[in-house]
Amino acid sequence: MTGFTRVRGTLVCDEVALDAIAREVGTPCHVYSAALLTSRFAALEQAMASVPHRLHYALKANSTLAIVRHLRQLGAAADVNSAGELEVALRAGFTPDQIVVTGVGKTRAELARAVSLGVAAINAESFGEIDRIEAAAIAAGRDARIAVRINPDVEAGTHRHISTGASTTKFGVSLDEARVMIREVARRPRLRIVGLHVHVGSQITTSVEPLARGAAIVADLARELMAGGVALEHLDLGGGLGIPYRAGQPVISPEAYAAAILPAVRETGLVILLEPGRWIVGPCGVLLTEVVDTKTRDAGTTFVIVDAGMTDLIRPALYEAWHEIEPVVSRDGAAVPVDVVGPVCETSDTFASARALPPVVVGDLLAIRDTGAYGAVMASNYNRRPLAAEVLVEAGRWRLIRRRQTIDDLLQWES
Ligand SMILES: Cc1ncc(COP(=O)(O)O)c(C=O)c1O
Repeated sequence: MTGFTRVRGTLVCDEVALDAIAREVGTPCHVYSAALLTSRFAALEQAMASVPHRLHYALKANSTLAIVRHLRQLGAAADVNSAGELEVALRAGFTPDQIVVTGVGKTRAELARAVSLGVAAINAESFGEIDRIEAAAIAAGRDARIAVRINPDVEAGTHRHISTGASTTKFGVSLDEARVMIREVARRPRLRIVGLHVHVGSQITTSVEPLARGAAIVADLARELMAGGVALEHLDLGGGLGIPYRAGQPVISPEAYAAAILPAVRETGLVILLEPGRWIVGPCGVLLTEVVDTKTRDAGTTFVIVDAGMTDLIRPALYEAWHEIEPVVSRDGAAVPVDVVGPVCETSDTFASARALPPVVVGDLLAIRDTGAYGAVMASNYNRRPLAAEVLVEAGRWRLIRRRQTIDDLLQWES
């Protein structure tokens, strides 16, 4: 079986015991399963097989070079959100025509780089950005390929910090603005509208409806534009498919997702682009951490203090997100409610509150599950904490794909 399973009481990743990795690499440490990455990518591909499509993996979810390279080798294309992600995508071997560039505040330098490379599309977010893309295209002496990001005014039904499709958010332009923008672009010789883009939000688990509505809205606009002579090539429906962070949590399957979005877009005949991030990589990673202290308050709360913190995984502090936590090597004994907290000087540095955990003692290893997406990428050096090591398990062996940062690394660009 691929991914993370328990064998004789020990948590393993594709047959490699996680305690063995932690002993050599130290903690905190992110561990990823290459086999699970492969099977999840294949499942999404399979679900979309009935239409011409491309899966532009959203590097924002996890842009560690080896992970990105693995997905490229599987046949993914790329969605990048910054100059840094663009360079990582290129170094992972993507060609510019496999890359779409997203982002609500692209700088002139980022636009110039994207235009001069000739990326598959720049997802344009405003009238001002169209002007800046045109200036970059004139300066580079080459045409720029643009997809207009539509704000469909759809509530995603997810955490408000990761909802992006409502008209009150900063993302995209309204349908009316898009129509004006596209007429405007037609008069600018260096610009070509090649697609429409929409992304309504992330970690969508309860209903396919927002995803289906977003798709239907851009499909309708595409038909209208094509009837008016606009030569579109693709519809980019963004990412957003959620994963079960809680054991047993019902989620939307790739098949249900495809069945919801495809009816509206299929008849346009356009190539369908998706920008999945979390669904592909989220379940493929765990964060290994060691218990460094325990203490029980008079009021009854027991704290399990671990060596990973919000600097290694910020989702619980940022969105009160739930991650399953389990000992790597099980001990006998009844589960008791504990607060699992990190060492950072913030009360929000809490991974779980009143969580039932089997008995643990100092030195035990815990695995925080489903940290493959928005884990290592959102890390920081707060409290001068070096970034954690990252390990990829592949074909029964593990290798370091990012070594642990050192204090010397941290100080090297300071005077
Ligand atoms: C424009 C865009 N595309 C794709 C994604 C990836 O989303 P997810 O990881 O939920 O699939 C995001 C995430 O916020 C996004 O903003």
